[in-house]
Amino acid sequence: MAEVIRQIGLSLGADVCWPLCFEAMMKRLDLSIPVGGDTVRFAVERVTIEPFDLRQPVKYDLVVDRLTHWYHTSREWIKKGIVMNDLYVFNNPWSVQANEKHTTYCAMMALGMPIPETWMLPPKSYEPTPDLKPTLTRYAKLFDISRIGEKLGWPFFLKPYDGGGWRGVTRVADEKLAWKAYEESGKSVMHAQASVEGFDRFVRCIGFGPQTRCVLYDPDAALHDRYTMKSDYMSAADEEHLRKVTLTINAFFGWEFNSCEALRRDAVWYPIDFANPCPDSQVTSLHFHFPWLVKAYLRWTIFCAAVKRKMPRNLDWQPFYDVAAQDLSYADKLDRYARIAEKRFESARFEEFCATHLKHLDEVAFEFFGSAEAKEAVRLKVVALFPPHEIENFTELFWGRIQHWRASGCP
Ligand SMILES: Nc1ncnc2c1ncn2[C@@H]1O[C@H](COP(=O)(O)OP(=O)(O)O)[C@@H](O)[C@H]1O
Ligand SMILES: [Mg+2]
Repeated sequence: MAEVIRQIGLSLGADVCWPLCFEAMMKRLDLSIPVGGDTVRFAVERVTIEPFDLRQPVKYDLVVDRLTHWYHTSREWIKKGIVMNDLYVFNNPWSVQANEKHTTYCAMMALGMPIPETWMLPPKSYEPTPDLKPTLTRYAKLFDISRIGEKLGWPFFLKPYDGGGWRGVTRVADEKLAWKAYEESGKSVMHAQASVEGFDRFVRCIGFGPQTRCVLYDPDAALHDRYTMKSDYMSAADEEHLRKVTLTINAFFGWEFNSCEALRRDAVWYPIDFANPCPDSQVTSLHFHFPWLVKAYLRWTIFCAAVKRKMPRNLDWQPFYDVAAQDLSYADKLDRYARIAEKRFESARFEEFCATHLKHLDEVAFEFFGSAEAKEAVRLKVVALFPPHEIENFTELFWGRIQHWRASGCP
């Protein structure tokens, strides 16, 4: 059997903690996986930023990308790699570039998901351009934001159509505040969205390939307490529902790694934010859930690289629309969407691969997340985010939660 090395590139920005853990655990796993007639081993390297010849080869088999949504040189290098060099990347960079939160709302409305009523508003102000005045004078209609508020019901949310990181989000309770928030929205194209008032659960479902994990989220807590450590806050049926919603969205947009925020009111789950194709992966937010995330990164990366999964270069929306057009209940449609997603993410093959070749991952994770090396990764992230006098306390806080994860059976 020939030994072949799969080269894995990490295309990173400010990430500190998960890559350190990913690299260390990959070493500890010490994999030699038989694939076809070969023995596959793995090398992990961080991708650097530099000029590149469009025709130069790409040394990586797979790149884990955390830059595409804002760093264009890396995004374009990745696109070249997919088009020319058979590179596998998550997430699909064209889909990240083209599909804003707005498109995700529209598409999931078309598939029948109960997305809250949403309007798009033209921006309050503009970058001056030669065509601006004639365009607006001829075609821009004056509108009254309080009319939209009446249609949506008060309060509603005013937020940028492309979302991300809670930037420019306002809960607007009355006419005066609506005008104020719109005046202050500047050049952003905005959505006005009906508020899911009186929800009783706020859940974030993280999806990584076919893997999902739901976390009860507390939007009013301090940043380090928003991902709660609660369990038993919803039924298995609710969890299954959110799993299907998340897999549907992720398969539709070619986002193998994404998270979906959903609010439950009167037993209905309303997805409100699910265009997060570079989701938070920091121990300082995820703490207790962080080891699961690192394992999910490893499993999906190793699987895709080992079997040389083909990068789906194009999005294929039609099969979802074919289901949407059938005379079925939302629950039945969701079942069928999820089946399409599971096929695309090769759920069954993935599970079998993990059961055969990554049997020791849980043990490696348990040992690693008790090690000085893991604690140092946590500390370095805390150092990057917190003022010096808080470093020790917060390192201990997050480390303690990881130890709680270990002590409670590594859920
Ligand atoms: N329709 C809504 N109903 C209730 N709360 C909402 C709604 N839209 C946004 N929010 C609240 O505002 C927060 C930020 O909005 P979100 O759409 O998630 O923006 P971002 O893309 O910046 O994360 C949400 O986490 C939630 O707490
Ligand atoms: Mg959000």
